[in-house]
Amino acid sequence: GMPLPVHGDGSNVRSYLYCEDVAEAFEVILHKGGVGHVYNIGTHKERKVLDVAKDICRLFSSNPDEVIKFVDNRPFNDQRYFLDHQKLKNLGWSERTSWEEGLRKTMDWYVSNPDWWGDVSGALVPHPRMLMIPGDTSARINGNGYSDSPAHQTNSSQMVVQESSKISAPPPKKPTLKFLIYGRTGWIGGLLGKLCEKEGIPYEYGRGRLEDRSQLLADIRTVRPTHVFNAAGATGRPNVDWCETHKTETIRTNVVGTLTLADVCKEHGILLINYATGCIFEYDKAHPIGSGIGFKEEDKANFTGSFYSKTKAMVEELLRDYDNVCTLRIRMPISSDLSNPRNFITKISRYNKVVNIPNSMTILDELLPISIEMAKRNLKGIWNFTNPGVVSHNEILEMYREYIDPNFKWINFTVEEQAKVIVAPRSNNELDATKLKEEFPEMLPIKESLIKYVFEPNRKTPKF
Ligand SMILES: NC(=O)c1ccc[n+]([C@@H]2O[C@H](COP(=O)([O-])OP(=O)(O)OC[C@H]3O[C@@H](n4cnc5c(N)ncnc54)[C@H](OP(=O)(O)O)[C@@H]3O)[C@@H](O)[C@H]2O)c1
Repeated sequence: GMPLPVHGDGSNVRSYLYCEDVAEAFEVILHKGGVGHVYNIGTHKERKVLDVAKDICRLFSSNPDEVIKFVDNRPFNDQRYFLDHQKLKNLGWSERTSWEEGLRKTMDWYVSNPDWWGDVSGALVPHPRMLMIPGDTSARINGNGYSDSPAHQTNSSQMVVQESSKISAPPPKKPTLKFLIYGRTGWIGGLLGKLCEKEGIPYEYGRGRLEDRSQLLADIRTVRPTHVFNAAGATGRPNVDWCETHKTETIRTNVVGTLTLADVCKEHGILLINYATGCIFEYDKAHPIGSGIGFKEEDKANFTGSFYSKTKAMVEELLRDYDNVCTLRIRMPISSDLSNPRNFITKISRYNKVVNIPNSMTILDELLPISIEMAKRNLKGIWNFTNPGVVSHNEILEMYREYIDPNFKWINFTVEEQAKVIVAPRSNNELDATKLKEEFPEMLPIKESLIKYVFEPNRKTPKF
């Protein structure tokens, strides 16, 4: 029942954009934008403030002539802002929501979520902050917080004071996140902590060993997490061949430990994001090499050639029955840190000889933030956690030569020759990333992701 104040005569023009379109723009820029670039987010459709006020009246079935009250203009109120957003459009973003639809959805949301914002009546106070204009200190305001002077009589030398009762209550706090992460000393666990710091998400590393239920319970009691991330696992040093000779240690962490953590989380109703592996598959007749037919989430493991993969395959199968677990099948992870010995690129660029087989791979710089987003969306079940498509060893090393070292050379050998220098066979496969791509349409195909997240930022060769 309060009047709708309009500053000045309402002829000021603005470009209004629906919030979901803005959020989509952020997402597109996050995933496709250039580092250090600036993007305007806007619309070419401009609207006068007065027309907006009339449209709002129409939505509330009230008469604009009765409800709209012209009040003193704000000092320095810009007549028009207009941003050219062509650069953002070039990234593939476009406005999707019409003005009418966006306004209606916004109104519906406010009307059906009164608890979220608290008292919004403060928005109808025409001059919500104290404005001190040098030269005059007189306060001219009526009991409703409206200036008595009509717009055309605007006196720019005045002080307008908001009534304290009209200050809107702060919005209720959103439920906050608190992550508990296992794998502090590990590669992926370390990266996750840094990401949480970057995103301002409170987190703590778990102190317990995975196989010790009482230690995990103590972690949950002290940290009180909203989500648990498991980046702990027996991975072997210098490589997974270690697991062949340390079977009980491997079982203790990868099987007993992972299942215990999932079970403790289940008991406490907490989602567990589990960094698992896609190295539980190998190309077969139904998924031949180079066919583009990848293994799907519902497929059962067909590669247990190494003890490491065997433990991971068994656990994945058992975790299917835990509805609080999100299993992420990582493969041959790559990060932009080319000095890290765990990085697949670092590994193959240091080998004396390499095989040349197309594989699905995970670009951590792109996908680890996605795993955090998956936690926020409370996604569960099994996910092939690789970029779409495959890339071969030689294709990666060719990129390495192009971007990092023009003199780089390597020697290929066959899988049979490779078998002579390793203990356990390695898995080669393509995972079908359709499910992940549908949830995160902005995710890049593997080769584009490699260039954007790894090779371009590390480029040492001149750009032609
Ligand atoms: N890197 C890859 O190629 C790759 C590929 C696919 C999947 N993954 C999976 O992703 C996960 C993380 O991999 P990563 O490369 O980051 O491994 P990583 O560098 O070897 O780190 C493993 C982490 O697990 C911890 N850990 C081991 N046993 C534990 C136990 N019983 N209780 C608690 N913590 C334990 C280690 O801590 P301590 O040092 O204290 O033991 C370390 O922090 C693993 O499950 C791995 O299998 C990795």
